[in-house]
Amino acid sequence: MLNFSMKCLLIGLLCASVKAEFRDSSINLLSIDPLIPEDIHINQGGDGPVQLNLTFTNSQILGLSKAVAKEFKGFGKDLATKHELIFKVPRVTLVGNYAISGKILILPVQGEGTCNLTMVDSEYHVSFKGIPEEKDGNTFMKLTNFRLHPETKLVIYKFDNLFNGDKVLGDTVNKFVNENWKEVFDELRVPFDKSFGAVIKHIMDEVFNKYPYAKYFNE
Ligand SMILES: *[C@@H]1O[C@H](CO)[C@@H](O)[C@H](O)[C@H]1NC(C)=O
Ligand SMILES: *[C@@H]1O[C@H](CO)[C@@H](O)[C@H](O)[C@H]1NC(C)=O
Repeated sequence: MLNFSMKCLLIGLLCASVKAEFRDSSINLLSIDPLIPEDIHINQGGDGPVQLNLTFTNSQILGLSKAVAKEFKGFGKDLATKHELIFKVPRVTLVGNYAISGKILILPVQGEGTCNLTMVDSEYHVSFKGIPEEKDGNTFMKLTNFRLHPETKLVIYKFDNLFNGDKVLGDTVNKFVNENWKEVFDELRVPFDKSFGAVIKHIMDEVFNKYPYAKYFNE
């Protein structure tokens, strides 16, 4: 198995106890809190109960530094296998600008402004398959079939300035999406998993591009 410190590094210096030890590490991780994702575009079409175009720009994801690793599977000497890890985070918040148009369940929704989406008590399941890549006579791990799947106890949504700031309509939509947070989240899950998964994959690519895979083990 990977040594403990490397496990922590893997999910982005998430273990408080080893943080100091790695502060000057040459593994140059992206800053994870705040994490700056690429723009997120969700186009949910079809006949489903949620049909909308939703875009997040200039976003920040806050809270990932409070993540705690719960379980690791794989990560053995053989990299060409399925690897899984589970981490828990008390609160993950996406803040930034949004633009939305479409329909959520029965409600038409339209607007642009700032938003705050907070996931409370989430557990993230990450899985991927390793493939060996030879570089300068060493074997590095490349990540394929990367999947991220969150489970969450609650999502709190806050969209400011819906309907050009119409308070009654805006409050109605915010109240409605919060009362139906689970249904809304289930509808957005697939595009969300893809977008957020890409962000997490990018972090993990950085970790495993840095050194040959064997180096992540205790000698
Ligand atoms: C989403 O955007 C596309 C093109 O930009 C448009 O054709 C479609 O009607 C929009 N859907 C909704 C639900 O607004
Ligand atoms: C986002 O919303 C959560 C839950 O309502 C709140 O606790 C948090 O302070 C907000 N964060 C920001 C940056 O507005």
